[in-house]
Amino acid sequence: MKPFDVYPLMDVTIQRSLGSYVWDEKGKQYLDFYGGHAVISIGHAHPHFIERIQDQLKKTIFYSNFVQNELREAVAEKLGQLSAYPSYSLFMVNSGAEAMENALKLASFKNKRTKVIAFERSFHGRTSSAVHITDNPNISAPINKGFERLILPWNSSDALEQELRKGDVCAVVVEGVQGIGGIHVPDPDFLKTAENLCKQEGTILILDEIQSGYGRTGKFFAHQFTDIKPDLITIAKGMGNGFPVGGVLIAPDFEAKYGLLGTTFGGTHLACAASLAVLEVIEQEQLLKNAQLRGEQMIEAFQQFPEIETIRGMGCMIGIDLPFPVKAFRKELIQEYGVFTGSSSQANTLRILPSLAVSSAEVEQFIAAFGACLSNFKSKPIYETFSI
Ligand SMILES: Cc1ncc(COP(=O)(O)O)c(C=O)c1O
Repeated sequence: MKPFDVYPLMDVTIQRSLGSYVWDEKGKQYLDFYGGHAVISIGHAHPHFIERIQDQLKKTIFYSNFVQNELREAVAEKLGQLSAYPSYSLFMVNSGAEAMENALKLASFKNKRTKVIAFERSFHGRTSSAVHITDNPNISAPINKGFERLILPWNSSDALEQELRKGDVCAVVVEGVQGIGGIHVPDPDFLKTAENLCKQEGTILILDEIQSGYGRTGKFFAHQFTDIKPDLITIAKGMGNGFPVGGVLIAPDFEAKYGLLGTTFGGTHLACAASLAVLEVIEQEQLLKNAQLRGEQMIEAFQQFPEIETIRGMGCMIGIDLPFPVKAFRKELIQEYGVFTGSSSQANTLRILPSLAVSSAEVEQFIAAFGACLSNFKSKPIYETFSI
């Protein structure tokens, strides 16, 4: 048997990782400004993370969700405190898509409606409901198109108002900052309008913070740059720093009933140990502040390159537009300069997603490699072709 061939693989085999670096089987070192797709929050193989998981491995890896689990209580408590959502509840799952699926179910259970609004360039995952509200028909199978959904223009309060006033919308789903779509930050006014309209019309506001949450932007959640409180917030990626775990933060007015939601593996003992370690490190090492400062450092440093057309984002979630498709550029950054970066659904956008613990020296190292790669790239025909 072979793995089902759905991933276009880079020619790199990772064997070891630590902090902001990974190493391949030949011992070559790479600077990781991609974090395996915004997953690495506290840094690879953080000693506290390893210790907590190792300790838990020796105790209990798993028991069903039908026994008391003090660790899960501890995760919810700490998450409530660090995220400034102490009155919300936490439902733990295994991935981002599963978090979205459960958030949509909760919304529909609550207002009994089925129509969902999402936005252009959105990405919410690949399970049935999540992929249906993702703005990419290529990854949605016929069986996924099970309810009415509208994809509206990004940041368009007018379009949103027109649809929400019909009074039949179950949920509005917005990414805290659009990730795969190329790092697009929602306007504060737009978020505020969405919150107000949702309240007036009985629609549930869901903030997808799967990529932008857990301190990545310098605030615990990206939507906290605006004074709003969504009904539901989805999390995953940075929550486990590589351990598969996700969750939904649920506003107090949602009533829990036995059996309403459930999953075998969501919030196992081991997942909770990993999640708790992440939160403890975020707090102890003040990683929100660090993410904010490193973001400011990167944005300032990017100003020196006139080739960069746009810089978007904040903290450790930055997108830059180059005057050519970034595919070959990213490859060269990896092969020649030993630096990982991310792509997006927009061909010319490079996504920069280091861990929140990235150091100032590592940012300098990244900028030096980026600059060298860019000036080398400018002499290539591909640059001539696209830089008009
Ligand atoms: C904003 C957002 N939502 C949802 C998902 C889906 O998460 P997962 O791949 O863990 O199912 C992703 C994954 O990239 C994402 O970026």
